[in-house]
Amino acid sequence: MKADTRALAARGLAEIALRGASLREVMERSAPRLPDPRDRALLMALLSEGARWWLRFDPAVDDLLEKSLRHKEPAVHALLVLGLVQLEILELRDYAAVAATVEAVRALKRPPLAGLVNAVLRRWQRERESRLAKLDARPQTRHAHPAWLATALQRDWPQQAEAVMTADNNEPPLMLRVNRRRSEREALIARLQAAGYAATAHPWLADALVLPHSSDVTRLPGFDDGLFAVQDGAAQVAADLADLHDGLRVLDACAAPGGKACHLLERADIALTALEFDPARAERIRQNLMRLRLDAKIVTGDAGAPKGWWDGRPFDRILLDAPCSASGVLRRRPDVRLHRRESDIAAMQAQQRRLLAALWPLLAPGGRLLYVTCSVLRAENEAIVGELLAAQADAQAVPFTLPVGQPAAVGWQILPGDGDLDGMYYAVLQKSR
Ligand SMILES: C[S@@+](CC[C@H](N)C(=O)[O-])C[C@H]1O[C@@H](n2cnc3c(N)ncnc32)[C@H](O)[C@@H]1O
Repeated sequence: MKADTRALAARGLAEIALRGASLREVMERSAPRLPDPRDRALLMALLSEGARWWLRFDPAVDDLLEKSLRHKEPAVHALLVLGLVQLEILELRDYAAVAATVEAVRALKRPPLAGLVNAVLRRWQRERESRLAKLDARPQTRHAHPAWLATALQRDWPQQAEAVMTADNNEPPLMLRVNRRRSEREALIARLQAAGYAATAHPWLADALVLPHSSDVTRLPGFDDGLFAVQDGAAQVAADLADLHDGLRVLDACAAPGGKACHLLERADIALTALEFDPARAERIRQNLMRLRLDAKIVTGDAGAPKGWWDGRPFDRILLDAPCSASGVLRRRPDVRLHRRESDIAAMQAQQRRLLAALWPLLAPGGRLLYVTCSVLRAENEAIVGELLAAQADAQAVPFTLPVGQPAAVGWQILPGDGDLDGMYYAVLQKSR
């Protein structure tokens, strides 16, 4: 079974790294073929760590071969990358990792290549030190980041870039958000601890709980009763900055799957419109509202074209959690770094600019708009907000500080790993009365 799992992982990883498939779709397609949950867990670990570390070990595999297998035998190439990931990252015993990888070549129905795979992994073991030193010499292979992103991080955050890339490769904790309407945080912590989970309260976020490792959250006590949601602490800052009180009219303009929208609803009795462009993703908002026993008006539409869905009544609060590069959440989404291109950033900016400009007129005088992204690139964050501030005489930035992260030219940047949170950018804009 283990050989089949590794073979399945190799095929899936080749699709993710070489054909643009997402980790989620590969996992959804492959997991049903593995009835044993331990095999599914191994598959998930291999696919996640394989994607995370691809940009370090893919060049190493090519370097070990006279002729690259990447295009002719993509699954065998990916299997070799996985072999190195198992030796160097998952720290499997050498013998087990090599033997299992060679066995998986047969499961891939490529027995003639078994000898080659064995020889390549043995050579890696013999020459490991010098080969690792070569990979460590450049930021992109040291940290398995695309070269353009490593360069952008060094440009935007010269002091922090190394720490950011290190954090992108570390296992994040599991963070939950207590549903205040259904439980006290302390009561939920006690319940989780009684069930054997090492849950603790987050030191400065009022609703956050931290568990050291990820696990199947649907099996945690209280999940079906809607006592909590899964949400990184960085995303929980939105509800604090929204400055909510009962009776406000609030728009969440890019709402799916509804993480921040639900948090806002847990905090105050507001009339919330949850807008989402993608109907399938809008369905996920509905499911989350239902599980957490919350209520909002879900609207499917384009935040950049309010004529199609706006009733003309201004909003007191607008949350624009804009589509972005996701460069702040690489630790939780290890395939993103393989799919994002430098040229995507200009397209993202155009979209962010369009949405912000279209939504500003919908804000009531004295109202607040929160601009949020899970990007760490200044081009998607303070540059976009700065343009709006320059163009709209009635817009002011509201200053604030957070216990972690750093001030940007406008707003605040949490970088991945700051306070063990995901990377997220926040700006608060107020409209003059
Ligand atoms: C960063 S995610 C939002 C995450 C969400 N706020 C949460 O906390 O769970 C951005 C969402 O915006 C949606 N989106 C992208 N372009 C949009 C548009 N023009 N109008 C409305 N929604 C859009 C995407 O489909 C995606 O679901």
